[in-house]
Amino acid sequence: MGIEIKKVGVIGSGQMGNGIAHVCALSGYDVALNDISLDRIQSGLATINGNLTRQVNKNQISEAERVTTLARISAAENLDALADCDLVIEAATENEQIKRKIFAQICPLLKPSALLATNTSSISITRLAASTDRPEKFVGVHFMNPVPLMQLVELVRGIATDDPTFDACKAFVLRLGKVSTVAEDFPAFIVNRILLPMINEAIYTLYEGVGSVDAIDTAMRLGANHPMGPLQLADFIGLDTCLSIMQVLYEGLADSKYRPCPLLVKYVEAGWLGRKTQRGFYDYRGEKPIPTR
Ligand SMILES: NC(=O)c1ccc[n+]([C@@H]2O[C@H](COP(=O)([O-])OP(=O)(O)OC[C@H]3O[C@@H](n4cnc5c(N)ncnc54)[C@H](O)[C@@H]3O)[C@@H](O)[C@H]2O)c1
Repeated sequence: MGIEIKKVGVIGSGQMGNGIAHVCALSGYDVALNDISLDRIQSGLATINGNLTRQVNKNQISEAERVTTLARISAAENLDALADCDLVIEAATENEQIKRKIFAQICPLLKPSALLATNTSSISITRLAASTDRPEKFVGVHFMNPVPLMQLVELVRGIATDDPTFDACKAFVLRLGKVSTVAEDFPAFIVNRILLPMINEAIYTLYEGVGSVDAIDTAMRLGANHPMGPLQLADFIGLDTCLSIMQVLYEGLADSKYRPCPLLVKYVEAGWLGRKTQRGFYDYRGEKPIPTR
């Protein structure tokens, strides 16, 4: 008998956390959604409701499913409310210290059998696992953005992850209707190891004046057949997350080719983090995004 997962805890109700809560609840799991304040959890719940409503309007789910899905998600103001979860997925800000602090708080509350996962885009699963009381029950479950739409989930084992944990997470991803790939525990795994250096290079291209925001995005959409330009994608991911991933690649692989572009650093320092703050390489405050350079 494999490990049975009934209730899932999600820590962080930002763009990834609310998406993960959405797909878990839609697949029948009970979900407890946590963040640093009730306001943030409620904003996550409002996003989930908006996205479910869009699915109803597109006839992808019924109105009854929207209602039951929302009812399966409870707002967990305190981590205590995650104590009875069978699986907890951490989807908080991409910062190792924040994640370690969360694990230190949550571990003593969890039942011994509970599995612990992180949605980190780049940080070592082995190192994060070692900061917990259950490295063998710790795994990287890396969803893609936007979670309800994207098919892939990268599964990453730490050095200590045991087979029952890994198999349970594989079955969990399958039940969500998604496809898993396995990545070894190297900085940024597979998708972001390839994607983020491309985005960083696009930012260098802008920084050096090779092209404008519009020229770079149009070039990659029409010239390389990408569904969206790299700068638009950077705004969508979040420039703080992009910078954190580049820093992990730069430090983890000790290769100057991963040096974060100074313009990316400057945007993050300005608090221009992309769509989530309404301004990044595009300005989102009007009806339609306007390139800022
Ligand atoms: N943005 C993407 O495209 C993407 C894709 C895959 C994975 N990820 C990863 O998912 C994680 C979250 O990214 P995001 O894009 O959702 O970021 P986000 O900024 O939208 O959300 C992060 C949330 O974490 C919350 N948070 C911070 N500290 C917390 C704490 N101590 N306890 C509870 N909640 C806390 C914040 O309040 C915020 O709501 C990161 O590890 C990121 O690397 C992001």
